[in-house]
Amino acid sequence: MTSLIRGGTVVTADQTYRADILCVDGKIAAIGPDLDAPTGAQIIDAGGQVVMPGGIDPHTHMQLPFMGTVASEDFYTGTAAALAGGTTSIIDFVIPDPQQSIMEAYKTWRGWAEKSAADYGFHVAITWWDDSVGKDMGDLVRKEGVNSFKHFMAYKGAIMADDEILYNSFTRSLELGAMPTVHAENGELVFQLQKKLIEEGITGPEGHPLSRPPAAEGEAANRALRLAEVIGVPLYIVHVSTSDALEEIKRAKAAGQRVYGEVLAGHLTVDDSVYLDPDWNKAAAHVMSPPFRSPEHQAALWKGLQGGALQTTATDHCCFCADQKAMGKDNFTQIPNGTAGVEDRMSVLWTHGVNTGRLTMNEFVAVTSANAAKIFNIYPQKGAVQVGADADLVVWDPELSKTISVKTHHQNVDYNIFEGMEVTGLATHTLSRGVLAYKDGDLRAVKGAGQYVKRPAFAAPFDALSKQAALHRPGPVKR
Ligand code: URP
Ligand code: ZN
Ligand code: ZN
Repeated sequence: MTSLIRGGTVVTADQTYRADILCVDGKIAAIGPDLDAPTGAQIIDAGGQVVMPGGIDPHTHMQLPFMGTVASEDFYTGTAAALAGGTTSIIDFVIPDPQQSIMEAYKTWRGWAEKSAADYGFHVAITWWDDSVGKDMGDLVRKEGVNSFKHFMAYKGAIMADDEILYNSFTRSLELGAMPTVHAENGELVFQLQKKLIEEGITGPEGHPLSRPPAAEGEAANRALRLAEVIGVPLYIVHVSTSDALEEIKRAKAAGQRVYGEVLAGHLTVDDSVYLDPDWNKAAAHVMSPPFRSPEHQAALWKGLQGGALQTTATDHCCFCADQKAMGKDNFTQIPNGTAGVEDRMSVLWTHGVNTGRLTMNEFVAVTSANAAKIFNIYPQKGAVQVGADADLVVWDPELSKTISVKTHHQNVDYNIFEGMEVTGLATHTLSRGVLAYKDGDLRAVKGAGQYVKRPAFAAPFDALSKQAALHRPGPVKR
């Protein structure tokens, strides 16, 4: 398949220039002014538009079995919706049950993901520990192209990782050159507050944010960062939602730690007033963890993204429909946690980031694709417009507007947290490995066309960090 994208302005994380892009057999084959179209090539007119790397959403949960149900969006419907919004790759999560073989769980998720329409990779969660987990981590890194491991510091009694698990897994990650990542919330504190709120008769969704105060996130972020500091391993903190966690990241960075922060499009643009909605279904539809926060936290998150303390944007796309949310009708702790967004992330961030002047177009590319590709070691195969890179590209009309609505979205869920938001800046064409998967409202996603993307282990920076940690340690005292 050969396609020529003609007349657009190429925008990458570090350059803006006019050029045509030739895509051959899934790769970018040439970039330059006035390229000749090979015979039979499909011509895509990008006049007046920008052409960027397709988005990478580094945090999704397609068809996740969670809290007694299964997320409504599967790998096909979810990646198809992603393509409609200009996102061409996702990194999803394998979440083994405690005591389940992590390799067996990984194989299960790989099977589910075969129907993906866009490319995908996996972080693997470490929910328990013994020697077999450490051995499987080695096989996942060396043979399967997994270079990141996730730790849920919340969800006590289910998938929560305590400090012993964190210590063992962070240490093993360092040996392997893999990136530990954390969901930072103090799970014990959340559990105790949930019990207290229910006892006090607060059973509705308004109890959800009360049970997960910002300090619970700040404490966990600090604990994970301090463990990573002592072990000498980098750390990636997912869905940073508070200034409390952000301040810990800034402190650690200033102290020389290699730490990365992710922020969700939802946390940047939706505030915590949603939990006070008199309509139970609407309030419950917003139950996710960490919860939506006050405007003060949102302002801090934007500054963190603008200032570089936060490097990536994601959605934590994890869909549950109203009948699933209703499982927690009498008890907010039973409401399945999760909200959608994979389709809307790019346009929401363009509208609230680029159109407001908070982000340049180049910074937009950095935070929607290039930084994730670099942090998770798939750059420049992904996140770049370069000869030899995958032809994952989005042709973007900065003037095109729409109003986001559940009535028109492609996501397989009956609610949209951005409902009614007017966005300006939309994908007109999305190419996945050179194949046109979306064109002017026509979604042509192909079930199974997405490919698994191997992510190699890291080498040099990890060694440098552990050497630094070792430098400060004297040897045994001879007496
Ligand atoms: O509420 C959320 N975020 N659900 C998905 C699991 C997680 O914590 O990321
Ligand atoms: Zn999480
Ligand atoms: Zn998540």
